[in-house]
Amino acid sequence: MKSPPPSTSIRKTSYSSYLLILSFIFFIAIIYGEDFACILRQQPPQEHFDHQQQEKDEVVVEVAAERGCNLFSGEWVYDEETRPQYVEEECPYIQPQLTCQAHGRPDKGYQHWRWKPHGCSLPSFNATFMLEMLRGKRMMFVGDSLNRGQFVSMVCLLHRVIPESSKSFETMDSLTVFRAKNYNASIEFYWAPFLVESNSDNAIVHRIPDRIVRAGSINKHAKHWKGVDVLVFNTYLWWMTGQKMKILRGSFQDEMKQNITLMETEDAYKLALRRVVRWVEKNTDPHKTRVFFTSMSPTHERSDGWGGEKDGNCYKETSPIKDPNYWGVSSNKKIMEVIKKVFQKSKVEISLLNITQLSEYRKDAHTSIYKKQWNPLTPEQLANPKSYADCVHWCLPGLQDTWNELLYTQLFFPGLREWK
Ligand SMILES: *[C@@H]1O[C@H](CO)[C@@H](O)[C@H](O)[C@H]1NC(C)=O
Ligand SMILES: *[C@@H]1O[C@H](CO)[C@@H](O)[C@H](O)[C@H]1NC(C)=O
Ligand SMILES: *[C@@H]1O[C@H](CO)[C@@H](O)[C@H](O)[C@H]1NC(C)=O
Ligand SMILES: *[C@@H]1O[C@H](CO)[C@@H](O)[C@H](O)[C@H]1NC(C)=O
Repeated sequence: MKSPPPSTSIRKTSYSSYLLILSFIFFIAIIYGEDFACILRQQPPQEHFDHQQQEKDEVVVEVAAERGCNLFSGEWVYDEETRPQYVEEECPYIQPQLTCQAHGRPDKGYQHWRWKPHGCSLPSFNATFMLEMLRGKRMMFVGDSLNRGQFVSMVCLLHRVIPESSKSFETMDSLTVFRAKNYNASIEFYWAPFLVESNSDNAIVHRIPDRIVRAGSINKHAKHWKGVDVLVFNTYLWWMTGQKMKILRGSFQDEMKQNITLMETEDAYKLALRRVVRWVEKNTDPHKTRVFFTSMSPTHERSDGWGGEKDGNCYKETSPIKDPNYWGVSSNKKIMEVIKKVFQKSKVEISLLNITQLSEYRKDAHTSIYKKQWNPLTPEQLANPKSYADCVHWCLPGLQDTWNELLYTQLFFPGLREWK
């Protein structure tokens, strides 16, 4: 038995989180610690695919794994030939908050970037192969709207090889299910923005500024994940309130017994992740279940961070950041440390989909103003588009397809797992 780590006590700092974040804004971190001795010879460009592609991919990836390829350290390569992997109008499952072309985005460059790890090439995504592997299985994404985006991207990558009569897509409360009936497989999304129980759990009415989290309580949600074969978790954005988190002991129903305490964001986040790990350890079969956690999806709210114009954000950005050392809000470093520590202690393997750095470069990939708006825009907003640009979510097709290529690689080319 491993004893619990000693850091469960709650730090009581007197300065506000806001100051803390400010103090880190100019902190440029050195993020490229890996050595690049592992660079393989370049793969010749694949002009056309043949039936042995899959085997070739396996060989490439196995060789790379032996030499220690870090999938998440690499660069974006502009590729008009093979990207995007599907067309926006041909994937009916993309919600109108993510269909950027349909909402007037004038440029398409953001669809054409391919991720190239320094040490290897990613195997090409083969939808038929993936569905074969998922035959009789359930795959579920659990988390917030960013994970929903990744779920939809996965459905878009897969649905074309399934005949119309064999697929369905339906939402029941917090659960959305895409079924590939001819494979008896499903790809699902479950809304739980904090993973643990919170006052923001309603799948439709959840825009709550005063967020309260019941960090120790997970079963209300987790009973819906039992028996799933591939689980992909995320949680991050909802914790970033800029203030301490409100943690509830007691239940949301019984107001008399409610005890709400304030906790530093990282400490609260750590409590919740530990709860997830405990659930995974108790409820999954390591021989049957694969568990992933997607790291923080970065935002691009301040263009001075990448040397852009003063007071700008992601609005009108059309190309990735080229500085390999770019790392946005540095308070994220602390969250990354929490993720690393908590999952390394798990007795069941939880693979990290470490998409933070590669997504940091993609200031061009957000939905910005090209999405369905919840509320009518005011004349002031219309006069200043960047004031309502969404620099959090990502257009589809786009960046999140890459997250799924990485997930695909980790699932089926296990030589490349990040740890354990
Ligand atoms: C994709 O996978 C299927 C099933 O394994 C295989 O038959 C097919 O040849 C693969 N296609 C490519 C282009 O590799
Ligand atoms: C279909 O898949 C489910 C798991 O998702 C499994 O329980 C069931 O036995 C499968 N049915 C058939 C006919 O293979
Ligand atoms: C609320 O919970 C905290 C932390 O567990 C505890 O120290 C405190 O005594 C509790 N307050 C009440 C009124 O129960
Ligand atoms: C994720 O990748 C970044 C950049 O390569 C690295 O700094 C960070 O430590 C990684 N996170 C974990 C938990 O391994």
